[in-house]
Amino acid sequence: MDVHNVALTISAVRPAQYPSDALPEIALVGRSNVGKSSLTNTLIQRKAYARTSAQPGKTQTLNFYKVEDALYFVDVPGYGYAKVSQREREKWGQMIETYLTQRETLRGVIQLVDARHAPSEDDITMYNWLQYFDIPVLVVATKADKIARGKWNQAEALIKRELEFNPGSSSFSMFSSMTKAGKDQVWQWIEAHIGA
Ligand code: GTP
Ligand code: MG
Repeated sequence: MDVHNVALTISAVRPAQYPSDALPEIALVGRSNVGKSSLTNTLIQRKAYARTSAQPGKTQTLNFYKVEDALYFVDVPGYGYAKVSQREREKWGQMIETYLTQRETLRGVIQLVDARHAPSEDDITMYNWLQYFDIPVLVVATKADKIARGKWNQAEALIKRELEFNPGSSSFSMFSSMTKAGKDQVWQWIEAHIGA
């Protein structure tokens, strides 16, 4: 998809605030600082539309980006950020769970993991949880520019093994917001899942 038109439509914490125009939605999840906002910016061809930061835990609300009147990207606040209080974490958990389990227009989730490392416990928990709720998942291993091309297969194998990756319900892509590697693959998956 060639994107010309995008708007940050809404920041929401509860269902009454979600957009009401029934467009398909693709949500982005992953631990704090993994690169969700950067991936959003890469897909919509903007430098800094979705707020990115070296400071983890920046995104605190569900941010709905309306793209070409065709779909929404939903940038979900990152998990696994240590400096967040227990209470904040519970609030976060409830907000995400409500969104992911009750949103009828949600067509799939892009789960970002760091291409350089084995998935964290939180990554594994999130992946299992998405499987349990039968949500189609694209696992994106991002920051792939930080490892040599010759190591990509090894990184992919490690991530898939640790997640107990299910090829029946999930897809996988290496990705870099720096080099734009994987961008077309990610768009293909999105288009297939929104019925474009
Ligand atoms: P939260 O909103 O805090 O959950 O973080 P986020 O997942 O949205 O991460 P964000 O996109 O803000 O990126 C965090 C940091 O990683 C920034 O400094 C980005 O520039 C950097 N980054 C993101 N993607 C890539 C990538 O593909 N390659 C490299 N080298 N750096 C990246
Ligand atoms: Mg972010």
